[in-house]
Amino acid sequence: MCGIVGYVGSQSALEVVLAGLRRLEYRGYDSAGIAVLADGGLAAARKAGKLVNLEKELAARPLPTGTTGIGHTRWATHGGPTDANAHPHLDNAGRVAVVHNGIIENFAVLRAELAERGHELFSETDTEVVAHLLAEEFSVTADLAEAMRLVCRRLEGAFTLVAAHADEPDVVVGARRNSPLVVGVGEGEAFLASDVAAFIAHTRSAIELGQDQVVELRRDGVTVTGFDGSPADVRSYHVDWDASAAEKGGYDYFMLKEIAEQPKAVADTLLGRIDASGALSLDEVRIPASELREVDKVVIVACGTAFHAGLIAKYAIEHWTRIPCEVELASEFRYRDPILDSRSLVIAISQSGETMDTLMALRHAREQGSKVLAICNTNGSTIPRESDAVLYTHAGPEVAVASTKAFLTQLVACYLVALYLGQVRGTKWGDEIRAVIRDLAQISGAVERVLETMGPVRELARSLAHKDTVLFLGRHVGYPVALEGALKLKELAYMHAEGFAAGELKHGPIALIEEDLPVVVVVPSPRGRSVLHDKIVSNIQEIRARGARTIVIAEEGDETVVPYADHLVRIPVTPVLLSPLVATVPLQVFACELATARGNEVDQPRNLAKSVTVE
Ligand code: F6R
Repeated sequence: MCGIVGYVGSQSALEVVLAGLRRLEYRGYDSAGIAVLADGGLAAARKAGKLVNLEKELAARPLPTGTTGIGHTRWATHGGPTDANAHPHLDNAGRVAVVHNGIIENFAVLRAELAERGHELFSETDTEVVAHLLAEEFSVTADLAEAMRLVCRRLEGAFTLVAAHADEPDVVVGARRNSPLVVGVGEGEAFLASDVAAFIAHTRSAIELGQDQVVELRRDGVTVTGFDGSPADVRSYHVDWDASAAEKGGYDYFMLKEIAEQPKAVADTLLGRIDASGALSLDEVRIPASELREVDKVVIVACGTAFHAGLIAKYAIEHWTRIPCEVELASEFRYRDPILDSRSLVIAISQSGETMDTLMALRHAREQGSKVLAICNTNGSTIPRESDAVLYTHAGPEVAVASTKAFLTQLVACYLVALYLGQVRGTKWGDEIRAVIRDLAQISGAVERVLETMGPVRELARSLAHKDTVLFLGRHVGYPVALEGALKLKELAYMHAEGFAAGELKHGPIALIEEDLPVVVVVPSPRGRSVLHDKIVSNIQEIRARGARTIVIAEEGDETVVPYADHLVRIPVTPVLLSPLVATVPLQVFACELATARGNEVDQPRNLAKSVTVE
């Protein structure tokens, strides 16, 4: 949440920072602002609303040209999305500017102290106190990095801070605790950003910042220290995707592009995970096989769409390994005092690798002595770094706020982990594992075929744009798919959408059914457990008898559903446990099209942001 950019170099800081903010706007779009050091002073502009408002402001009232600058795109926490609350925040002399991601929990105390010392604060934010504290410390130290270290030691909460001071015109300083911040190192220039996407057009050489570290950026180098001033070990890495991966590539929305990229994302996530003997070899899983054999419980923690991936993973893990598996919303996990010990394996699923709820859950699990395996899409992010092992999904950067390709690859990674557990524990034979891997290898083509047949789904979505409610039903692995379909519709189309286990309908929700209410039903394969299939066909009849308009997602060749489907969406034949990989795709397309038909911003739905770095 919130996108932050800092730049020191020889290019126009305004242009570099604005281009970076455009790439980070998915992290928040309540307001945007920029500060540039030029002509011995500091000039800033801030505007409520999307970045385009700031760009208009800058066109009307240009800032002087400088080569050092910082910028911010905001997801509001303290204080509404107004000009006054937009970052950067300045001290009273207008010499220091600061941008911030996170929450400073003790800001009220600090604010009262500053007021007593005669400072005037103009915003409702927690951030503004930092500008004033930095100004005070700088007046003593005349060193922005040292001022930042001193201030950080007084702050509580989670924060990424980036600051610039008019008296140190070739320096930008950043600090990090529990919120993401990466450094980009170029030729005679350096960058700071919440995400490498902001500087990938300039350099692919990056440095991870650790917890409680301060970084000082100058044209000729970067210095990293702890909050206490001790020198820090620096881990550099090469960013292995290029700038075009973060462009729309001719699609109207990132979401459409990312939906279309799913066949490749699924195939890429399988790449290199089978050794010459045909056995699974998950390089990044560094938990010794002997420890995995001792595991007596798997607990999956995740949020939102990643949580739905976890719900589906449970079916595969329990079926293939016979280890009990719990799936828990990360935000609830540590508060219920979960029973964990060294024999529990906790799997943390996160696209961004920065979700605070998931991070806190995994920290809690490690404190209890459990091993944590992360399934993550973002190299070098906090969640994999704090886990005992990681399995990276290879979805490439996901920019649209609504998760699509990351979800499918999270599923693939979960299946791989389940099979791997089955392999090391001997609950699955080698040939059985190879058979599932062969099935997984077919999925990319199956998703491709689903995508080729989405015309009628789009048309149907457009015809339902005036509706208020859509319900989703599923059984077995189709139930989490129904939950995911409903989540996509809520967040994109702002419609009342709910997913139910089809069997639960008669216990209450069936009262919601009324004439012409659209109900999407995810039908399990008739080739799996036929009892599941028969039961859901009965459920479809029950809701249809009460007036529902049924939208049935069923496997090719399943003719039994035809008489009860007002709209029929066909998906390719796939093994039951893997079927969510294809069944979810029409629901993504449906939500995206419905949102477009309702005139909503598909990539940046209201009130949301990607990478949720607050609890
Ligand atoms: C929904 C969506 C969110 C995320 C959730 C977890 O489309 O994207 O529900 O899935 O915020 O995010 P990560 O996976 O980054 O931890």
